[in-house]
Amino acid sequence: MEGVLQGGSPLARRAVSFPRDGCRFLRAVASNRPRILERCIDLELRAKRIYKALGKAFGDQGLVGPFFAGLADQEQYHADLLELARRAAMRSGWTSNCFNPWQEYLPHLEQQMDAAEAAVYEISSLDAALQLVIQIESSEVNQVFDAAIAATDAAFVKKLKPFREAMEAHMSYLVERLPELSPHMILSTRELRARFPRLRGEPR
Ligand SMILES: [Fe+2]
Repeated sequence: MEGVLQGGSPLARRAVSFPRDGCRFLRAVASNRPRILERCIDLELRAKRIYKALGKAFGDQGLVGPFFAGLADQEQYHADLLELARRAAMRSGWTSNCFNPWQEYLPHLEQQMDAAEAAVYEISSLDAALQLVIQIESSEVNQVFDAAIAATDAAFVKKLKPFREAMEAHMSYLVERLPELSPHMILSTRELRARFPRLRGEPR
């Protein structure tokens, strides 16, 4: 039967190749869920490392140090929330339909984070550092966080404020502080705000 199958994912090929071994297939699907969340956690921790490096490079400029320290703390917090979601998903389940649109997109986000990590040590001005923040936060990494939370079948993950409001708080922090750090960020901040219409308040 294997010779008949062409294309499709390795998982799909395996499922058809072993039609009588349904348990093995189901275990393979179930084990995919924590792995997806591990990759999401890794993205958060990589963002944290970038913000820590930028804080180290530019932290002696007034409010810049506390700004990057706050951002790094928030990324660690997102990683911690996703770790709780990962454990909950292993116990309670995972609604893959909620995450499917993003699954194929994860490699693209990982490549974007590779590029951001490579760029961080080349940055020589505060404006360039802040522009990198906007680039990271304008990517779909924050929507992926929300999708991972939505896909986790555990009541406390869906209902508790820390999960539901983490991204809103994070983006509010950014759009409030970026223009205070550099007037050149006003336009970029407006564009960032436009990507997250749930944010309250007037654009600066
Ligand atoms: Fe994050």
